[in-house]
Amino acid sequence: MHQNDTPAAPDLFTWEFAADPYPAYAWLREHSPVHRTTLPSGVEAWLVTRYADARQALADQRLSKNPVHHSERSAHGKGKTGIPGERSANLMTHLLNIDPPDHTRLRRLVSKAFTPRRVAEFAPRVQELTDRLIDGFAGQGEADLIHEFAFPLPIYAICDMLGVPPEDQDDFRDWAGMMIRHGGGPRGGVARSVKKMRGYLAELIHRKRNDPGEDLISGLIRASDHGEHLTENEAAAMAFILLFAGFETTVNLIGNGTYALLRNPDQRERLQNALAEGDGSLLATGVEELLRYDGPVELATWRFATESLTLGGQRIAEGDPVLVVLAAADRDPARFADPDTLDLARRDNQHLGYGHGIHYCLGAPLARLEGQTALATLLRRLPDLRLAADPDDLRWRGGLIMRGLRTLPVEFTPEAPTAV
Ligand code: HEM
Repeated sequence: MHQNDTPAAPDLFTWEFAADPYPAYAWLREHSPVHRTTLPSGVEAWLVTRYADARQALADQRLSKNPVHHSERSAHGKGKTGIPGERSANLMTHLLNIDPPDHTRLRRLVSKAFTPRRVAEFAPRVQELTDRLIDGFAGQGEADLIHEFAFPLPIYAICDMLGVPPEDQDDFRDWAGMMIRHGGGPRGGVARSVKKMRGYLAELIHRKRNDPGEDLISGLIRASDHGEHLTENEAAAMAFILLFAGFETTVNLIGNGTYALLRNPDQRERLQNALAEGDGSLLATGVEELLRYDGPVELATWRFATESLTLGGQRIAEGDPVLVVLAAADRDPARFADPDTLDLARRDNQHLGYGHGIHYCLGAPLARLEGQTALATLLRRLPDLRLAADPDDLRWRGGLIMRGLRTLPVEFTPEAPTAV
């Protein structure tokens, strides 16, 4: 494609882009589907925006997840990709940074402990946590749903599942808050938070090894495959990635999802009616559609070319970073009818919100459980929930990886206090 034949590429990574990246994605899909750009960190990378190319890239074994394939060849040396925590060793040898055969071994081991059954059994606890958080603001008639609901729910849920005792969970809330506010980069307070989390997890794993329970950390320690176990460091890295991968993503699913429902009153009413009739099927398809429509993992999942290859007609050199833009792929009109329309009952909705291929989201069952419980409970308990801000005034947290609202001010008729 000759750049001269087409209008200028839109500005990426600006404030306006974070607020609504979809017009820019439409332009890229049409004019430059595998697009060379300079990231805010100065690194040059390819953005892949069409569904077919994105799906192919996610499954292409020549595209490695290991940042070493970039940094070894990069003139700038290590630590330039902006991958969260790239420089803090140890915890970073986790599923999202490694390839087969190590990935296959670790994924098999974690899958023995983090099973769909464990998640299903956790459902009453997620409901309890959800209700407890809503209890905190239901009587007030107004709330910031990010701060008071979407943010704490996933952190408490995963802490509970891992086996972090309740009295320590607020520490995780603080550390996670630091990471989300500062974009996850390995700097200052964030580095300190990661260090504290690492120390805490190592200590907890050590304790659970001597005194195991029914929690996920004990399950990770116990998991064995053909006589192989996770080392303590691998178990700590696994616990960390479960926290890290499962936290901001789910915050944004609940935040972006609630916002999309508030902006699409017909769809929201349809869901409320279905739930009132005891029909949960629209909730299940609806949460998938909310992920497709405005998914949390926005701009990228990183890959690095281990050899030169062609993708979408574009030549990619060995060592080049490739960012698969899931949110752009999921609005591709070549794959989805009326892609910019929210349709909670959408069929054939094979969105890429959870990725595709061997790195497909391990936590998808938990994310679905949390998303469905959060939205259903919110709509049931606060049926006249409405936005308390002009949408133009809302601020979005955009980054290289996630996109979500900073605040979501809402108002509603206060719930009458219930007699205890
Ligand atoms: C991987 C999305 C929630 C744990 C991924 C990937 C995506 C994703 C797109 C693949 C990344 C890639 O290929 O580069 C999401 C979304 C979530 C969510 C949208 C919420 C709505 C969770 C939760 C957990 C979790 C709750 C765990 C508690 C993981 C792990 C991986 C992963 C461990 C790495 C899997 C591997 O490399 O084999 N997720 N995720 N995620 N996710 Fe999630």
